[in-house]
Amino acid sequence: PAPGWAISADVVVVGSGVAGLTAALRCEAAGLTTVVVTKARLDDGSTRWAQGGIAAALGEGDTPEQHLGDTLVAGAGLCDEEAVRILVTEGPDAVRRLIDTGAIFDESSAGELDLAREGGHHRRRIAHAGGDATGAEVSRALVEAVRARGLRTIENALVLDLLTDAEGRTAGVTLHVMGEGQHDGVGAVHAPAVVLATGGMGQVFSATTNPSVSTGDGVALALRAGAEVSDLEFVQFHPTVLFIGADAEGQHPLVSEAVRGEGAHLVDGDGVRFMVGQHELAELAPRDIVAKGITRRMLEQDADHMFLDARHFGADMWEHRFPTILAACRANGIDPVTDPVPIAPAAHYASGGVRTDARGRTTVPGLYACGEVACTGVHGANRLASNSLLEGLVYAERIAADIASAHAADGLHARVPEPVPDPERPAHPLLAPEARFAIQRIMTEGAGVLRSAGSLEKAADQLQRLHTEARDALEENGKTAEPGVDTWEATNLLCVARVLVAAARLREETRGCHWREDRAERDDTHWRRHIVVRLNPDRT
Ligand code: SIN
Repeated sequence: PAPGWAISADVVVVGSGVAGLTAALRCEAAGLTTVVVTKARLDDGSTRWAQGGIAAALGEGDTPEQHLGDTLVAGAGLCDEEAVRILVTEGPDAVRRLIDTGAIFDESSAGELDLAREGGHHRRRIAHAGGDATGAEVSRALVEAVRARGLRTIENALVLDLLTDAEGRTAGVTLHVMGEGQHDGVGAVHAPAVVLATGGMGQVFSATTNPSVSTGDGVALALRAGAEVSDLEFVQFHPTVLFIGADAEGQHPLVSEAVRGEGAHLVDGDGVRFMVGQHELAELAPRDIVAKGITRRMLEQDADHMFLDARHFGADMWEHRFPTILAACRANGIDPVTDPVPIAPAAHYASGGVRTDARGRTTVPGLYACGEVACTGVHGANRLASNSLLEGLVYAERIAADIASAHAADGLHARVPEPVPDPERPAHPLLAPEARFAIQRIMTEGAGVLRSAGSLEKAADQLQRLHTEARDALEENGKTAEPGVDTWEATNLLCVARVLVAAARLREETRGCHWREDRAERDDTHWRRHIVVRLNPDRT
């Protein structure tokens, strides 16, 4: 749609989790006029739901090299080693700067950071806050810093599309703003640098740990803008998500890896510890291995959940170390002090996303990406637990440094955007909001934790049908769903779901969190490589 209003800045940051707010604070500190736009409220994204914490080699005897080793093993042969090296070496100082910004982490009685252990880590290296409320504390500290610095923010603003100039360089974004105030309706922020930090796409599945705002908006925007997207088939399913019923949809409460890190056992319906003997780390194996172990045992026992048994923690430890999880369990009628907790895997994290280099630059000049929306190469085929907040911090700082140096070198000029299409003739068909639920069901059945050529083909056909119906309605009758947040979210979900399924069909092997029951082995001869997708902007 054509913008009805426009403002200008040096940088527009889209999204307000750890990555977006860190990028914005660092850009502002470098003297760049920075605007933050976010779809709901500043603290409504995934960051505030993070429980376990932030992994970094901060403990005695730990080193970035050891953190690198664990990250590469979890990534199952597809991590970009240089990107991981940057993450683990710059990580400890990035966490210290976050503490300087105001985040308060849990400390031991000796006043040192209290570091926890999670799946795939051979050491205690996870900094946490409020016991199991790390993301809430990180979000609080960053939102307060953004407010204290007086950064310009636009809330309730759904990003629609990238604006580019005649040479294809970034010129800003269009937005749909639903709040009250100065900027309502469709408008634009003109800026020569756009930082996508829109988070993940967990809502593409029926059951997820992600909040309802995680609808793949940034990846869909990047695809429409002709940017490269990589590794979308690697959706991480968190092994231990509170089981709240086979038909429950939407966001599900997480039961952090840190619970297993403190010694909780995974048991089946007969009370047997089924991870023992499957991996040297048993319950603390990398996440994909634990999720597969649980799913296999569920299939063997024809059960829709397994159990996490941490009764031996006792009430005191539950209350002090895991207050958030304890409250979520009790709210759902389960008391982990006296009962094993029912759990099942659910969609958790997109390891892939918009492809970037080591400075966070995408393949469209002036367009950057960081956090879950990005694919920097650090996660490979399966993200190591608690590396995501760290990635958001480290790569957001790198982006701010790159934009600041481009600015200092006089390379950051405002660009004149090419005219956007007539709002009476939308360029792409919009889906009705109800399509969201159809997409979630199709994806859960066909492209969930366990996939096959047959299930993926069926999913691809069903998604294609949704697309064709919407496209034909537009092309033949000029009809499309009424523009609005729900319609854009459904449209974005369909866009990312189609690419995800196409990538999952192509990858004829099992690797990391991509599990093909018809191709059970990892195939390093043919598949130690990435699937990179770039759409023809005229044919999305
Ligand atoms: C958790 O606390 O288990 C989540 C950590 C993560 O996803 O990195």
